[in-house]
Amino acid sequence: MPAAAHRSRAHGLPGRAMNAAPYAPSPHRLTLRINGEAHTVAVEAWVSLLDLLRDRLDLTGTKKGCDQGQCGACTVLVGGRRILSCLQLAVMHEGSDITTVEGLARGDVLHPIQLAFLEHDALQCGYCTPGQLCSAIGLVNEGQARSLDQVRELMSGNICRCGAYAQIARAVADVALGPPPHESERTQQAIVTGTVPA
Ligand code: FES
Ligand code: FES
Repeated sequence: MPAAAHRSRAHGLPGRAMNAAPYAPSPHRLTLRINGEAHTVAVEAWVSLLDLLRDRLDLTGTKKGCDQGQCGACTVLVGGRRILSCLQLAVMHEGSDITTVEGLARGDVLHPIQLAFLEHDALQCGYCTPGQLCSAIGLVNEGQARSLDQVRELMSGNICRCGAYAQIARAVADVALGPPPHESERTQQAIVTGTVPA
């Protein structure tokens, strides 16, 4: 047996594999529905849903923060449920119905959660905001939050480097819970004349 063939078999490869061209898997063709519009794409098996959205479909509203499931910046909705798009492979989403931040408003009419964020001034740099908005809608759809504290807990997967947490929680609570009872908390916190240091 020639020496080269012997060496390659020792690594579990057929004798010719040493000189063969590198294996290039063909992309997968899949169709997804994003913000109400069907997209058919050819994508390699290792491409994340986040990279598909941002790099292939130019839907850059969804942000890449950590790219490892820790910050929530990449949150999108799949069938109304919030997911971290950096942790999902695009090929897992054949036929999925996906909503990104670009799909929340209807023309010039903002989604109620967007209006609540504006009303409460719930952003500073805005980098986390697309993920916060999608996560908030997922929270509302889940129907688990019963108090402002639960809203805070259920939004805790979305990090805000600017620290706009108090405003974000109130904005989400406005939509998830309606004005009362958490509104009463705001009333209790109202400034009373004479208590504010000069
Ligand atoms: S970018 Fe996905 S969780 Fe941070
Ligand atoms: S508004 Fe800046 S990171 Fe949240």
